[in-house]
Amino acid sequence: MTVSPIKVFITGAANGLAEVREGLADHPDVELVGTAADPSKAGTKLAESGAQVILHGTTATDHVPTEEIEAIRGVTAAPIVLVTSASANTILSEALAAGIFDVVLLPQLTDGIVFTIKKANSLAAGRTGGAPTKASTSLDGKVVTLFSPKGGAGKTVLAANLACVFARHQSRRTLLLDLDLQFGDTAIMMGIEPEKTIYDLVMARRELDSEALSGYVTAHQSGVHVMPAPMRPEDAELVTEERLGHLFSVAKESYDVIVVDTPPFFHGPVLATLDRTDQLLMVASLDVPAIKNTKLTTQTLDLLHYPMERRHLLLNRSGAKVGLKPAEVERALGMKVEFEVPVDHDVALSVNRGVPIALSAPRSAVAKALAQVADALVPVVSTKGSDPVKSSGRFRKKG
Ligand SMILES: Nc1ncnc2c1ncn2[C@@H]1O[C@H](COP(=O)(O)OP(=O)(O)OP(=O)(O)O)[C@@H](O)[C@H]1O
Ligand SMILES: [Mg+2]
Repeated sequence: MTVSPIKVFITGAANGLAEVREGLADHPDVELVGTAADPSKAGTKLAESGAQVILHGTTATDHVPTEEIEAIRGVTAAPIVLVTSASANTILSEALAAGIFDVVLLPQLTDGIVFTIKKANSLAAGRTGGAPTKASTSLDGKVVTLFSPKGGAGKTVLAANLACVFARHQSRRTLLLDLDLQFGDTAIMMGIEPEKTIYDLVMARRELDSEALSGYVTAHQSGVHVMPAPMRPEDAELVTEERLGHLFSVAKESYDVIVVDTPPFFHGPVLATLDRTDQLLMVASLDVPAIKNTKLTTQTLDLLHYPMERRHLLLNRSGAKVGLKPAEVERALGMKVEFEVPVDHDVALSVNRGVPIALSAPRSAVAKALAQVADALVPVVSTKGSDPVKSSGRFRKKG
């Protein structure tokens, strides 16, 4: 069996990186598809190179070069191997937390580097099934939907940040889908100005497949792909349940995770989304009307026979001293508070700046809480074998 060489793109600079490049250039298992000292200027070249693994050289000794990594992530989901001649110990854990596949300390024999490249490539292939446009093996992306019957509960801000956690910190192929079709503002929270929205997608005549889908999303620098809500509220009704169902089928083949933001009420598109939702995050807060409305939501979910094991209660702005305690919420709802996201005044700042707090302050309590949510809802599969997340399937509506 002949195995085609792994396409490697080298970015950045480090002592000894030139030798690495020379070694790899002659290696039969590797094909060098490009180099760029400054990844922020490599944009299209890197995106179009078809690189399967990125080797990024750094001279930083005590920190991960976040901006450079972001620039790479913005254009490719290929695994990144950091190459440094400085002591890797200090940055190893930080690098792994930042979703970098491995850190290689130079000097290193070419074979050692090729081994790391092969590991990175095979893990990524197992995880993602290839390039986002034409997936060679279909993925079975998990749909994580945030819902709350109350406006202002924090659905959008949490959806945007959760998507960033999945993409940036866990290197998952992530789609952020804005189904608050009339007044969606995920694009604003992500600080992007999209050229296309879900309106363009549903209006297109072309058959929707993974490749077509990639033409309607906007890539955020975190790696998240954003499918924004229509620009004009009146276009919302054109997004029919049938089209949405098709969109989900295609998106599940192209992404590991699809994070869905919703409006604060149940309507056709939300019901169609529930039908496809693997994990439902019910966003509640410590106030009596919110609890009452969440109770009504659980009753609606019961009527729809939406499975209990897919429902998760998240308490947003927890820790606020408002005279209600999580235990009282649990009693009222008959449901465990599975996650708590604290109140943080920097959240409002991050919304206004259009930079999700999970990116600007990855060590903040809000970002850490969302990392827990991400881990629990879509666990990283480290070994080959069955996926711990139950596969999606229509839940039965008994009549
Ligand atoms: N944990 C938090 N700490 C501080 N502020 C928060 C927190 N969560 C949300 N907010 C603030 O609440 C505001 C409303 O949040 P968001 O827009 O996400 O609510 P929503 O549920 O999407 O509302 P709607 O249903 O109207 O779309 C945000 O702009 C943000 O400033
Ligand atoms: Mg919202």
